[in-house]
Amino acid sequence: MEKLSAQRIRPFLTGTIGKELQVYQVIDSTNTAAKLLAKNGAPHGAVVIAAQQTAGRGRQGRIFYSPPDAGLYLSIILRPHISAEESLLITPAAAVAVARAIAHTTGVQVQIKWVNDLYYQGKKLCGILTESALDGYGGVAYAVLGIGINLLNKNFPPELQEIATSLAAAGTQPDRNLLAAAILSEFDKIYVHLEDKEFLEEYRSRSCVIGKQVALVYGEKQQTVMVHAIDDHANLVVSGTDGVPFLVGCGEVSLKGDWK
Ligand code: BTN
Repeated sequence: MEKLSAQRIRPFLTGTIGKELQVYQVIDSTNTAAKLLAKNGAPHGAVVIAAQQTAGRGRQGRIFYSPPDAGLYLSIILRPHISAEESLLITPAAAVAVARAIAHTTGVQVQIKWVNDLYYQGKKLCGILTESALDGYGGVAYAVLGIGINLLNKNFPPELQEIATSLAAAGTQPDRNLLAAAILSEFDKIYVHLEDKEFLEEYRSRSCVIGKQVALVYGEKQQTVMVHAIDDHANLVVSGTDGVPFLVGCGEVSLKGDWK
């Protein structure tokens, strides 16, 4: 596999995101590093990329499996001039950007499992974790958008074997520098027009939950709901057994094997 390198990524960047770029072969967590850079004043669009993480983090305190030279792990520092509510669109925008970048560099079409996982044939290929610091005035001081993609993994640890996949398992091995550049450039294109919400059209068309019965999990609680739509704030529009529709803005959904 091509060595991950800033020189190989930079020529393919089309926007401001990634102009300031730090590349590591090993790091604890690109999100942790990017948060520290953001606290110390790093500009909008600065990026940290790594070929391996020793302490990759997922949502809800989970570990994100990040072995050497098998994936792509990157974090983007954003300084959004939008409300905290609108900043909730960053994660779904990133899901669309990564899906487009994968399609452009490999031809593989992935699905989006609300709100921020990319799936291929029913297994997770990519996770996204956005961590924001509020400015105390209803806005966002900075956000760190972290993206982890499984590229080469064929042998996942036993607990992941049934639920995780990689681009190699999908039959493709893209140059990770080109894939990184494509992700940064695609995200830049969406981000500059984030408030138009045009990307939500593609988010919906790639969604694997619309029209499905899913298990909605919040903390210890679980409820089976029907997903009717995804609204303009990326909330799920669902109904329970009483048929009354309601909105879901956080939590997780599980598809119970219904991927068709
Ligand atoms: C999830 O699936 O729960 C989110 C996973 C996010 C993983 C990425 S890898 C790059 C960045 N650095 C981290 O420590 N986490 C994110």
